[in-house]
Amino acid sequence: MKEETNIQDREVVLQVKDLYKSFGDNQVLNGFNMQLHKGENLVIMGKSGSGKSVMIKCLVGLMEADRGTITVMHKDITKLNEKALDILRSDIGFLFQGSALYDSMTVRENLEFPLRHHTDISKDAKSTEQLVLNTLDSVGLANTIDLMPSELSGGMKRRVALARTLILQPKIMLYDEPTSGLDPITSKEIILLMQDIQKKYNTSSLIITHDVDCARVISDRMILLIDGIDYAVGTFKELSTSNDPKIKAFFKQDL
Ligand SMILES: Nc1ncnc2c1ncn2[C@@H]1O[C@H](COP(=O)(O)OP(=O)(O)OP(=O)(O)O)[C@@H](O)[C@H]1O
Ligand SMILES: [Mg+2]
Repeated sequence: MKEETNIQDREVVLQVKDLYKSFGDNQVLNGFNMQLHKGENLVIMGKSGSGKSVMIKCLVGLMEADRGTITVMHKDITKLNEKALDILRSDIGFLFQGSALYDSMTVRENLEFPLRHHTDISKDAKSTEQLVLNTLDSVGLANTIDLMPSELSGGMKRRVALARTLILQPKIMLYDEPTSGLDPITSKEIILLMQDIQKKYNTSSLIITHDVDCARVISDRMILLIDGIDYAVGTFKELSTSNDPKIKAFFKQDL
């Protein structure tokens, strides 16, 4: 008989403990905790301005937390030097809020960029082209390889940004609002793509979203970030049927 492992029993690939971050008087994170397990889709929801992007930027070392520990694949990132941090970063794919493609580069150059920075493959033009094409193909956009970002729709840009992140085959994916600004059908396509990627590579994903549909479809577990802390943790079903007014508010209104 095949044994289903409980998500909670799986290896922890990313752990945040007691994270604090403030900007002047603005105390954004106030002792936030989370654990991401191998192969898990963990959704983080929180109101606009609650600190979701700040938290994710602390995770990849783009921002320095005031206090707390962040462990990525058993390594404390606050104790790593730039070089070690860089190596670790190549295992983490980060889809920024709003895509953030390099506007002056073609789609091909956008995808080559992380390869040049993190691998040796870019020295071999043929392998590079094949990898770029294959990765674009996995998001359904092989035909855009020589276009500029300005020639793409919002949904296509998001896919190319996703391809640029996937090209290094990260073990952990961090998505900051992957469906924001997209129409419901395109959002659904992106969600399906995220699910495909998770299945294909057994990636562990942290997904920040305020899209309740996205959370329902994709999450194994959810964390609600309220008042700078992990206010509630549970499955979509558990949280969406909660009687706590602060939790209920998330599932009733568009944030
Ligand atoms: N570099 C910065 N300097 C000063 N304050 C900042 C900086 N970055 C974020 N903040 C503040 O931190 C708070 C949290 O911002 P953050 O971008 O994390 O919100 P968010 O939860 O991602 O919101 P949204 O859903 O709108 O993306 C906000 O009050 C914001 O003004
Ligand atoms: Mg944000």
